[in-house]
Amino acid sequence: MLKLFSCLLDYLMSKKIIEKNSHNLIGKDIISLDQFSPEEIKEILYTAKKLKPLRDLAKPSKILSGKIISLLFYEPSTRTFSSFTSAAQQLGAGIIPIQNAASSSSVIKGESLKDTILTLECFSDIIVLRHPENGSANEAAAVADIPIINAGDGTNEHPTQTLLDMYTIFEETGRLTNLTGVCAGDMLNGRTVKSLIKGLSLFKGNTVYLLSSEKLRIARRELHALSASGIKLIEISTEEEIPKNADFWYWTRVQKERFTNLKEYKKHKNTLVLTPRLIENYAGKKTIFMHPLPRVDEIDVSVDNDPRAVYMHKQMRNGVYVRMALLALVTGKKV
Ligand code: NCD
Repeated sequence: MLKLFSCLLDYLMSKKIIEKNSHNLIGKDIISLDQFSPEEIKEILYTAKKLKPLRDLAKPSKILSGKIISLLFYEPSTRTFSSFTSAAQQLGAGIIPIQNAASSSSVIKGESLKDTILTLECFSDIIVLRHPENGSANEAAAVADIPIINAGDGTNEHPTQTLLDMYTIFEETGRLTNLTGVCAGDMLNGRTVKSLIKGLSLFKGNTVYLLSSEKLRIARRELHALSASGIKLIEISTEEEIPKNADFWYWTRVQKERFTNLKEYKKHKNTLVLTPRLIENYAGKKTIFMHPLPRVDEIDVSVDNDPRAVYMHKQMRNGVYVRMALLALVTGKKV
């Protein structure tokens, strides 16, 4: 499959569908999937594939030598924070890691997001920001002169997760067009599915089924805006409506931290669990099982051993390659 991926990318490059080193992203903020052209997405995926061996073989690299990346996280994170750290260090950059900004930085003294961003701008070349408020990445980008990378803003978007999800889908299925996917869980509060829908909207012929309880559906206004970009979105609420043989299943957790009422959270928590029985009834031989993680209980652990499950190993590892690519492209480094 990797070979196919590689041949496809080489073909796209030879046809100038992907331009090598087109440097579209130099100095840019990475805020939303809305900002990308299909070519830019392909360039990021191609660059990630090129950089992959550096990490896999733990080869020292000086691509980002002299650069410093600030990681400013106001919300908990394991994967996004550590894979950005890994990506930056693998490419020879230094980091300023602020993992609990709300409790361990001057934020606790009452400093505003704007002032914290202006501070880190004095010390670094890129700021990777995770923040609980929708639109905070945009707000930071408006005040910063250095690139801001959105590592999740409230219930809005998580663009770097989507780029690694698209890398995974392309690597596993060989395409980004004419896909049928099932996204399940918390469509209302989760940010990863919203960004993924926007990413897949850039390519032709994609259909995404959104499986959730009625309460956890995407807000109507957002659904209409997402559908307007051409992707086919089909909302379903029972497992019987899952299409057979989808290309990917993308499970998500119910976002506990967005609920004001814990009872309400508990009511929704385990209503859609990915189990071997569900797989047996609705998945195809080639359906891949994805999850942005963390998993709570919404995927039965016995699914982890299914060869079609990519969330624990492939999908997470792909996050490092894609984040290496983004850091290199945004700083204009030749790969
Ligand atoms: C996701 C997030 O933060 O939105 N996690 C991640 O970055 N991989 C998904 C989640 O928290 O449920």
